[in-house]
Amino acid sequence: MLIARRGLLVASAGAAMARPAWAQSLSQGTFTHGVASGDPLTDGVIIWTRFVGGEGRVAWEVAEDETFGAIVARGEAQASPTNDFCVKVDVRGLQPGRSYHYRFLAASGPSLTGRTRTAPANAASLSVGLVSCANYGFGYFHAYGHMAERDDIDLVLHTGDYIYEYGLDEYPRTELTVPGRDFDPDHEIISLDDYYRRYQQYHTDSNLLALRAAKPISAVWDDHEIANDSSSTGAQNHQRNEGSYAVRVAAASKAYFDWMPIRRPEASGPRVYRTLDWGDLARIILLDTRLIGRVRQLNYQRALGLHLLSDGAETQAAVDEFRRTQWLDPSRTLLGSEQEAWFAETLAASKQRGQTWQVVAQQIVVGQQLVGAGAAAMVAPEAHANVRRYVTVGERLGRMGMPWNLDAWDGYPAARERFLQACTANAANAVVLGGDSHNTWLNNLTAPSESSRIAAIEFAGASVTSPGLEQALSAAAPGAREAMMQSANPNLAWCDVTNRGYGVLTFTRGACEAEWVAFANVREQQAPLPSTTRFAATPSSQHGPGAWSI
Ligand SMILES: [Fe+2]
Repeated sequence: MLIARRGLLVASAGAAMARPAWAQSLSQGTFTHGVASGDPLTDGVIIWTRFVGGEGRVAWEVAEDETFGAIVARGEAQASPTNDFCVKVDVRGLQPGRSYHYRFLAASGPSLTGRTRTAPANAASLSVGLVSCANYGFGYFHAYGHMAERDDIDLVLHTGDYIYEYGLDEYPRTELTVPGRDFDPDHEIISLDDYYRRYQQYHTDSNLLALRAAKPISAVWDDHEIANDSSSTGAQNHQRNEGSYAVRVAAASKAYFDWMPIRRPEASGPRVYRTLDWGDLARIILLDTRLIGRVRQLNYQRALGLHLLSDGAETQAAVDEFRRTQWLDPSRTLLGSEQEAWFAETLAASKQRGQTWQVVAQQIVVGQQLVGAGAAAMVAPEAHANVRRYVTVGERLGRMGMPWNLDAWDGYPAARERFLQACTANAANAVVLGGDSHNTWLNNLTAPSESSRIAAIEFAGASVTSPGLEQALSAAAPGAREAMMQSANPNLAWCDVTNRGYGVLTFTRGACEAEWVAFANVREQQAPLPSTTRFAATPSSQHGPGAWSI
């Protein structure tokens, strides 16, 4: 039996041996944070573990069966402090559309066993789990644990806020932190060592470990993997006294690539955008709306100041001026020109190939979100004055046709128009997936040039734990928050402004069937029974997808 050099594949001679002689050269140590897999191709998948001990020499095996009787690939790999002892192998030579078991070996014994699967060459269906925004302090990761137990999810798409960068008593504040889930380290993470330590803490969570071991994951970062409201040039939560922003981005993205079971695109700099194909059924397009091309967010407070606090002609004039000179500025990009061009070409190539669906996994909500009439009345009487002002201003802006959240596509209307135009012109049937807002929104996104046509349908899923608008609008009657948002936004087909959870979308040639799996409470270690809401949409051959039906 041959053993390949690190990351290379060998043909195996079949039966597993309990403690083969070659294993003697491996190191003694500990697999500290489970196993993971991701970014499946038709012939391969990334497998991941973390190993601390000795010289860091480990071996890996991929088998068709749980007992590793039929090993199909095997090799050696090296754990090193330069990658925080994370081991990533891009296993190749596997068969398409197959389930596999994998594990790592050391002289001191094997790792846990993980399950994964490769992408099919000819796919009848694709089921993706959609998840985002897991703030450790706000609760338990029930969404992860629940997904891990399902047999019907082929691939998990994580659209960001996999970790949060805060220190103690920031987000969450101490009084809202679930006991036993204080952040480690206790300060805001800035250095490479800080980011590593936060990833280490997250991967003590049993639900997260179960998900990583059970399913292949494809992930893209949002802002909190770096710092709140990050862009290509800075972040709301990055201050001058925290050092160079570029250095921080380099540290944060290195830690992310070291810890996530994803393939690094061949490019210089922090590039994460890439594609995965699911036969001739679907292309999954993972975008970076955060770091590589995003122009810094606009800020109502900075732009409008005191005008925000009153109605009237002067406020209207100031808002009109802001809208014309800043908000609508076409040079304000989210993807950057290079990724925009790549996106349009990627959609076209997918359609050309005959793929029915273009599944666009990205970070932030695309559909318009105006705060509707009556929102301020949903603020609890005892709420802090800042909360009341925030909601009152949001409602005032909504009356003037302006969105509440300038960190989403809503803050980049010209870029959004180009994005939707690319979907209209180049995609067969585009479906946009995302998160970030911490609530769930299903949108029918109208084509910019053709209002009777849908450019893309959107499923923006709520968070694993992070709180959403319900926190500020806590005095609303059941269903009132949702009705208020629907009344103000005609693109909004359905929303949940109350619960945490995850999405599942199943694509076939004839339909996209979706579920929203909701947890009413994430503050108890025992998961409550989730509730499930179902949706569907149909593809077309010429005019893009039909609207969501509920
Ligand atoms: Fe988030």
